[in-house]
Amino acid sequence: MPLALDLKEEILVLKKARNAVILAHNYQIGEIQDVADYVGDSLGLAYHAKATEADVIVFCGVHFMAETAKIVNPGKIVVLPDADAGCSLEQSCPAPELEAFLKANAEKNYYVIAYINCSGGVKALCDVICTSGNAVKIVNLAPADRPILFVPDENLGAWVMEQTGRKMDLWKGNCYVHVEFTRDSINRIKSEYPDALVVAHPECTQAVRLLADEVCSTEKMISYCRHASVKDIIVVTESGMLHRLRKECPDKNLIAGPTDRCACADCRYMKMNTLENLRDCLDTLQPRVEMEESLRARAELPLLRMLEQSK
Ligand code: 13P
Ligand code: SF4
Repeated sequence: MPLALDLKEEILVLKKARNAVILAHNYQIGEIQDVADYVGDSLGLAYHAKATEADVIVFCGVHFMAETAKIVNPGKIVVLPDADAGCSLEQSCPAPELEAFLKANAEKNYYVIAYINCSGGVKALCDVICTSGNAVKIVNLAPADRPILFVPDENLGAWVMEQTGRKMDLWKGNCYVHVEFTRDSINRIKSEYPDALVVAHPECTQAVRLLADEVCSTEKMISYCRHASVKDIIVVTESGMLHRLRKECPDKNLIAGPTDRCACADCRYMKMNTLENLRDCLDTLQPRVEMEESLRARAELPLLRMLEQSK
């Protein structure tokens, strides 16, 4: 497809002219992953965003990820291809609601742990952030004498409680993509591939996690599949993951986990980014992530604590 090739070349030329770095999440379309300088999970992306010496960070993921890049590296111009690329988890926990809840329960003196899939306003209200890649570690490091409030993902929170034995109060949010996988849909595909291993993201419900041989972040899925002793592996997460897995584990048969309605699950927000709007944002340096400095500084503290604790 010469058109797509031209677009790819245009992106690379603009990237050089802008002294930009392209960071892409594992759920991005394959074409975007292939032009990115780094592809990874939320944790790896946060470290790369902080460390980069480029002038411009082009964040191909969803808005909270680009916002996180701006929080940890405020001197950079941070752009994203589509400013409307949101996240159902972020939407499930508006900062004013969390603030009101914390006020109403002030006597509890909660230690608040926020999954990184939340707004800068929510981050600013928390003690520490975690990702799916370090949540167990971060919860294990929480002060033993304080009750924990975990926001906004009740499924990741429940999985971390199972892993750590630490009781937490959970905010009632979830990922609209991962809750679409069901016990029936995963059992059906397992019966088609009786020798397959199952790897699932911790945003899945407990009914699905119980069917998995491994539950982990998108980045850990790469090493799990690479080292797995069998060929067939059912991957229960967003469909973009399959592109990178197939590239990095060419000897494996990687099977998308189905839902009751579809053969695989797409995140409509992750899929808002295209090669076209990636090219346009490099060209115009818009849409840009901007944050009021006092909010950014408050949101930075729990993020830096996470980066420090997960080393
Ligand atoms: P990871 O940090 O595991 O890549 O997860 C991010 C995400 O949005 C999952 O839905
Ligand atoms: Fe948010 Fe779910 Fe999309 Fe991840 S897959 S960005 S958690 S809506």
